[in-house]
Amino acid sequence: MGKEKLIRFGVSLPEDLLTRFDALIESESYPNRSEAIRDLMRESLIKREWQAKSQDVAGAITLVYDHHQRELVKRLTDLQHDFHSLIISSQHIHLDHDNCLEVIVVKGTTKEVLNLSRVLRATKGVKFGELTMASTGRRLK
Ligand code: NI
Repeated sequence: MGKEKLIRFGVSLPEDLLTRFDALIESESYPNRSEAIRDLMRESLIKREWQAKSQDVAGAITLVYDHHQRELVKRLTDLQHDFHSLIISSQHIHLDHDNCLEVIVVKGTTKEVLNLSRVLRATKGVKFGELTMASTGRRLK
């Protein structure tokens, strides 16, 4: 990433809101207000990007499920083959004796990725499922 031109601008806001915001950024260990505000702006832009259903997006679907449910393991693998065009890679970690953690990196339109995430998370026996929305940051630097 090249060096970008930084712009300064003034913001007016209620004192109480700023006090609460400062407490939040301190608890999240931000070095300064600027960095925290930049992150918030990027986050809301990514959310908006994800709302445009035909937009190309990338993300990661994290699943935790019971290793002993043989049918479930097969079902999740079958589903991933059905949606292979959206899946860039997946990583399987044997968390402990009973549980598997799978991280599936996906890329496609918002609609496709949200659908795949829903299908996987809704599979019976999946204990945890979450979609992390990412962006190429092309316009979000
Ligand atoms: Ni496993």
